[in-house]
Parts: sequence; structure tokens; C-alpha cells
Amino acid sequence: MPIYRHSFQSKLPEVPTSIFSVMSALAHKENALNLSQGFPDFESDKKLIELVNKAMVTGKNQYAPMPGIFTLRQAIANKMEYLYGVSYNPETEITITAGATQAIFTAIAATVKKDDEVLIFKPAYDCYEPTIELFGGKVISVQLDPEDFKIDWKLVKSLISEKTRMIIVNTPHNPSGRILSAIDMLQLENILKDTNILLLSDEVYEHIIFDDEIHQTAALYPALSERTFITASFGKTFHNTGWKVGYCLAPKELMAEFRKVHQFNVFSVNHPTQVALAEYLKTPNNYLQLNNFYQQKRDLFLSLIKDARFEFTPSKGTYFQLLNFKNITTESDYDFAIRLTKEQKIASVPISVFNENGLDTKVLRFCFAKTDETIKKAAEILCNI
Ligand SMILES: Cc1ncc(COP(=O)(O)O)c(C=O)c1O
Repeated sequence: MPIYRHSFQSKLPEVPTSIFSVMSALAHKENALNLSQGFPDFESDKKLIELVNKAMVTGKNQYAPMPGIFTLRQAIANKMEYLYGVSYNPETEITITAGATQAIFTAIAATVKKDDEVLIFKPAYDCYEPTIELFGGKVISVQLDPEDFKIDWKLVKSLISEKTRMIIVNTPHNPSGRILSAIDMLQLENILKDTNILLLSDEVYEHIIFDDEIHQTAALYPALSERTFITASFGKTFHNTGWKVGYCLAPKELMAEFRKVHQFNVFSVNHPTQVALAEYLKTPNNYLQLNNFYQQKRDLFLSLIKDARFEFTPSKGTYFQLLNFKNITTESDYDFAIRLTKEQKIASVPISVFNENGLDTKVLRFCFAKTDETIKKAAEILCNI
């Protein structure tokens, strides 16, 4: 391949390959159990797959409308009304996206300008920071308490300035499995209510929440919902992360800006999948049973590793469990994760990569969106470490 000879400055000089790709590739090479990347090792419901097939054979194979097909937007509006009693207009306030990643990217691209400040909480999902930087924004990181991952709202308030454009929250939270409480949301509402600051609320694990906790969507809080982009992922909810279909909810004025960008970076999203999801969402049990389904997996995993040398606090949501290995080794979390993959044949994600300045708290993240058989194999390995 010819070498590019002109001077060229990377727009994202600090961005490495994502840790998920690194660990998944290593897991594959080492033939290790892959509990690193956040995807299930079981199939989506056959009924849903049949609905996609049906949509394809009945000719739903050309461009879908730019904001997504109306029946799917309507089904999402119905779900929001049914679950939370809130109303989103499917015409103007809901857009179907190529997964939550694109929804997050587009919301930031549409609103964050050069030198705007965006507050994020660390450990943070890895797409927020580079996207903010790509559009000239400045990331203001708030490191969460490494023990309980609680947000210090006084600290948040002290970091707000004239330049603050947006705050990004994520509940249930990847990687900690922590959830925001109603009190957290009220504190946030209080901080934002008389400002022009936008909120991006990443709620991709909305339907994976345990111990009878209730998901605190930003949509429930009027002074939040009027300024919030909520991002969601069908891939996480219906076990098909490879289909990359999600959506964004926002008030009309914000959604209009969102769509200006959406129409030029994606234009429209996979059509047959949308047709199938619209039909599948008509049965609330298809998403309501998910909490129990994953709680059983969490409980199985934790009961099997209760005598292992790892320490843990049970995850409250998401399909991730953090395990602290400070009783096992003084190695860095990165080195330990690599060694576990190579020697013990189990892959995880070191938490330092999500932390401010690579803070290493000796914690690894394991994904339990796996068959019971995989979970049992993983637990057996972890008990012998
Ligand atoms: C917190 C969080 N937000 C967003 C995403 C991206 O979701 P999608 O696969 O729908 O793009 C993920 C995926 O792991 C995630 O964990």
C-alpha cells in the first residue's frame, strides 16, 4: 500500500483500540472463555428471528424512513407510557438509531461545540470521551468512589461552569453494575433545573435491573426530561448486539437537531429488523422477563464463586459483575487480565481502562450474559485461582 506523504494530524491521537476488541481478540487466540465483551453467548428468541425473516421475504428490504419506521416509534412510545406513564411523540421525539453508540455519537455531534465542557463519570463507557473530543468539547471527568461508585453531587455542582454544555449519566452503570436512585436523580434535577445544560442519559441496560429495584429513567423527572437525550439499545435487551438497532428519545427541539446529524451519518437504520422489533414489542413480557432472566444468571455466578478469593458486591443492574482481586496478586489489573486469559483461559476487562488516569483498583469486569454452562465453567476456573 502506498504511504500517505502529506502532513496529517490525528483528530484523536490518544485513542487506542478499544479494550473490548483487545480482550476479545486475545480470548479468541488463546481459546479462552470470553467474559470480557458485553454480549450474550446464546441466541435471540426464535420468534424475533422469524419476524425478521418474514419482514425480509415480504419485501421490507429498502431504505426505512429517516427517523425509523413509524410502527416501531409508536411501539416505543407505548412502552414509555406503559412503564413510566410518560409521553413521547413518535412523530417528533423518537428516532431509531444504529445501536445506542450511534445515538450517543449523534446527540453529542448535534450539540457539543468547540470548548464546551461535558461532564462524565469515571469509570465510563468508552465511547463518550472520544466523541466529545472529536467535536472540540472538553471532557470534565468525575472519578466515582472506587468502593461504592456513588456520585458526589456537591462535587458535580462545584464543577459546573458557564462552559458546561452537557452531563452524561449511565444507569444501570457499565462497568460497575450500580444504579442511580430517585435521590440521585432529584439531586441532578436540582443542579440542572435553572441552567441550559443538556443531559445525555445512557439507559441501554434499562431492562436489566435486579432485586426489585425500579429503573430511574430521566424521563420520569420533568426538569430532566425537557433537556435529555435518552439512549437505548435493542441489542442489549433482546440478545442481538450484532443487529445494532437502538433508539433515542428527546424533546422535539432537541430531536430536530439530532435528526439533522442523523440523516447524514446514518440516514436510516436496518429496515427488516425494525419491522420485526415493532411487532415483538407489542408483548411487554418480551422485555419484562429480562430482569428475572439475568438475576438468575447473576445469582448462579455469585453462588458458584462465593468461596473464591475474589471479593465482590452483587451487581444491581447490567450483565456485568466486578470482582476485586486484591487478595490474589499485586499485579496491575491489565497484566492480571492478560495473564488470566493466557494461563487460566478466561477473559475479563480490567477496570483501569475506564478510570480517570488509569486508576487501578484491582478490579476486573466479568460479563454474565452467558449460558449456565459457560457460567459454571467460568466459576470453576475462578474458584481455582
Ligand atoms: C453503557 C453502554 N452504552 C452504550 C452501549 C452501546 O450499545 P449498542 O451496542 O446498542 O451500540 C453499550 C454497549 O456495551 C454500553 O455498555
